[in-house]
Amino acid sequence: MKAIIHTRYGPPEVLQLKEIPKPVPKDNEVLIKIYATTVNRTDCGFRSAEYFISRFFSGLFRPNNQTLGNEFAGEIETIGKAVKSFKPGDKVFGYNDITFGANAEYMTMAEEAYITTMPPSITYEEAAPITEGAHYALCDIRAAKIKSGQKVLVNGATGAIGSAAVQLITYFGAEVTAVCNTKNIALVKSLGARVVIDYTQQDFTKLDTTFDVVFDAVGKSSFGKCKPLLKKNGIYISTELGYMSQNPFLALITPLFGGKKVLFPLPSISKEDVEFLKELVVTKKFKPVIDRSYPLEQIIEATRYVETGEKTGNVVITVPHDR
Ligand SMILES: NC(=O)c1ccc[n+]([C@@H]2O[C@H](COP(=O)([O-])OP(=O)(O)OC[C@H]3O[C@@H](n4cnc5c(N)ncnc54)[C@H](OP(=O)(O)O)[C@@H]3O)[C@@H](O)[C@H]2O)c1
Repeated sequence: MKAIIHTRYGPPEVLQLKEIPKPVPKDNEVLIKIYATTVNRTDCGFRSAEYFISRFFSGLFRPNNQTLGNEFAGEIETIGKAVKSFKPGDKVFGYNDITFGANAEYMTMAEEAYITTMPPSITYEEAAPITEGAHYALCDIRAAKIKSGQKVLVNGATGAIGSAAVQLITYFGAEVTAVCNTKNIALVKSLGARVVIDYTQQDFTKLDTTFDVVFDAVGKSSFGKCKPLLKKNGIYISTELGYMSQNPFLALITPLFGGKKVLFPLPSISKEDVEFLKELVVTKKFKPVIDRSYPLEQIIEATRYVETGEKTGNVVITVPHDR
């Protein structure tokens, strides 16, 4: 089968389209014919190993998992003999940031892993980007216990995480003030934001309103700058470590003093989360934003684009199959 492999850490150019053996599912696994996958910041982080810490998960000197791709949508081709909940022909989608492998024509997934059947009436391209940004957003929303009636500011509301966060926070009943570029004001409003701040015109840290939570989904601000925006017991969350890795450190010390604090939850996902996101897609409460699509063989171009930090939502990779 065709797959994108990388045998060393480095820039997008380490990615190569190769012919490799088609995987064989174990007894508890399904074999998925991939039709759509994505390139996202998680793939880029593991490929570049920009943060050395990622090597403790992916291999100290070279990548253990040579094929990236954590989001997938496709059709089950065969199942292992112990599999009960899926059958050949099922359309499925899901997430795999343990072994990756979705940037390929086929991948295997354990039946009990983060995989479920696709919502009806959506395409593979629409199903593939459901989980990555949304599960990070969900994790942070849960950590901050965001609830109905609260006011939340989302900076970077047009990224994969930010665009999911605006929709999910709105779903949980809180009022969103979103920060984005001029060109995306209409988009962000359509996602549920009540107030939109154009960061090319206004510095959101100078607003004279206060919020229960400031969620910096692109990690461009700091607790220090956002503190005046927080209510008495307000919470600051960022998706980035911050200057000199201050955010995890502040998350350890600020809760000790009471009042305004930083949270830095470790991301996690469960099969229930994938089911939950599917339900939100079915009920039209959540729709992943898609910026553009590239075919598998243009993965280097797709990756370069993702690494500009300017994508709007998600970048989808389509996987053509020779008939
Ligand atoms: N290391 C990892 O494994 C990992 C994994 C996932 C996420 N992350 C981090 O989490 C963050 C979010 O990820 P993501 O995938 O959601 O990001 P993304 O999709 O790449 O975010 C891009 C968006 O951020 C907006 N943006 C850029 N600069 C901005 C600014 N100064 N103010 C407001 N918006 C701005 C851009 O809008 P405009 O085009 O309008 O500027 C663009 O729509 C990233 O920092 C990423 O590195 C890291």
